Amino acid sequence: MQKLFIKGSKELNGKISISGSKNATLPILAASILANKVRLRNIPLVQDIFTMIQLLKFIGLKAKIIKKKNYVEITNSDKNINTLAPYKLVKTMRAGVLVLGSLLARYGKAKVSLPGGCAIGTRPVDLHLLALKKLGAQIKIKNGYIVAEAKKGLRGAIINFPTISVGATENALLASFRASGKTILKNCATEPEIQDLIIFLKKLGSKIILKGRTITITQKKIKKTKIVHNVIFDRIELGTYMIASALTTKKGVTLDKINPKIVRTEIEVLRKIGIKIIKKKSSVIIKKNKKLKRINISTKPYPGFPTDLQAQLMVLLTQVNGKSKIREDIFENRFMHVPELRRMGAKIEIKGKTAIINGPTKLTGAEVMATDLRASVSLVLAGLVAENRTIINRIYHLDRGYEFLEKKLKYCKAEIERV
Ligand code: UD1
Repeated sequence: MQKLFIKGSKELNGKISISGSKNATLPILAASILANKVRLRNIPLVQDIFTMIQLLKFIGLKAKIIKKKNYVEITNSDKNINTLAPYKLVKTMRAGVLVLGSLLARYGKAKVSLPGGCAIGTRPVDLHLLALKKLGAQIKIKNGYIVAEAKKGLRGAIINFPTISVGATENALLASFRASGKTILKNCATEPEIQDLIIFLKKLGSKIILKGRTITITQKKIKKTKIVHNVIFDRIELGTYMIASALTTKKGVTLDKINPKIVRTEIEVLRKIGIKIIKKKSSVIIKKNKKLKRINISTKPYPGFPTDLQAQLMVLLTQVNGKSKIREDIFENRFMHVPELRRMGAKIEIKGKTAIINGPTKLTGAEVMATDLRASVSLVLAGLVAENRTIINRIYHLDRGYEFLEKKLKYCKAEIERV
């Protein structure tokens, strides 16, 4: 099994180009089922994307990745379609459940494996199913599969989500693409990745209006021509490298191919802690900071502070003066990095949904275990700032979502090796 070896306490200086967003690419790949021909550019070459493309191929679509240019060409000619998403593909990547909405919309039926729980929480799909039922689908759960049917097609409806869910909003958007009449989705997630999906669906011929947390979808003529789309940058990758730079840089790190307006909250939070950030049109520069200040913060749906940056922020807070608090408001079990960070010397207490971080503490290298994607990358950040060597096990989690992680960090002079 592969491991990462990091020799810590090195300065990061230089430039990192941010990749396309994994969490935007996944629903857009699911949306490709609705199109005839798609060229999706700026996709990140990470395991979750390969798994989703494998799933599209299993369903019967043709897909060719051009790795050198980070794009994929997808064709759906309606031939030999299998409206099934099997357990073996959905179990490794929950976003597989998003093909449910597209398959129902285009073929009126779908059988999709229930994704099951995962390390960060139970992660049910009840809100996805609630939306599909409102659109007229008949749904049964059988042998671990969601079996859905809409023989006469889906029809527009008003759906009011009781809680905000990224995946359920995406599935509802995909399903309503071909629903008759008008669909109104209320209390939606409005993450930039959802906004990117909306741009894609509009190119495909949908009329979609997003206002506050309400999305209105009305059908227009579906375009049969080839759709070309550039995926938005990965704001979580950007946030991760902003924090890595804040922890280690002296001369400064430039993070480019981004739009700083999309990460206003993250920039505001880091500035409050005392990180110096220079905003440019399509980049940010993270400068050496002086004295870092404590902060209390909760994770929230966009435009709030993202749960996907909670673990990374916690590493930064081990280096600030005083007692900081992070409340995890999205997932029920997302502090699994804490025992590993403690093994590196961090002083962190957990009280219910809140982590209390006592800083500053000198972190020291240790052998640690990655548990999920974002927890794993927080251990990389801790390894970069710690004294001596850190060894990270189970790094396949990192490969699910970070494109060229070692290469990008090495380019900024980090000492990091995969063995
Ligand atoms: C997406 C992101 C993930 C991010 C999360 C929250 C992708 C591929 N993944 O995950 O990286 O951490 O948004 O920003 O984009 N819930 C229910 N019932 C449902 C659906 C969700 O109770 O049917 C709950 C979840 O358990 C969780 C909360 O709602 O507590 C938010 O989950 P959701 O926004 O759906 O996250 P995902 O779409 O799974």
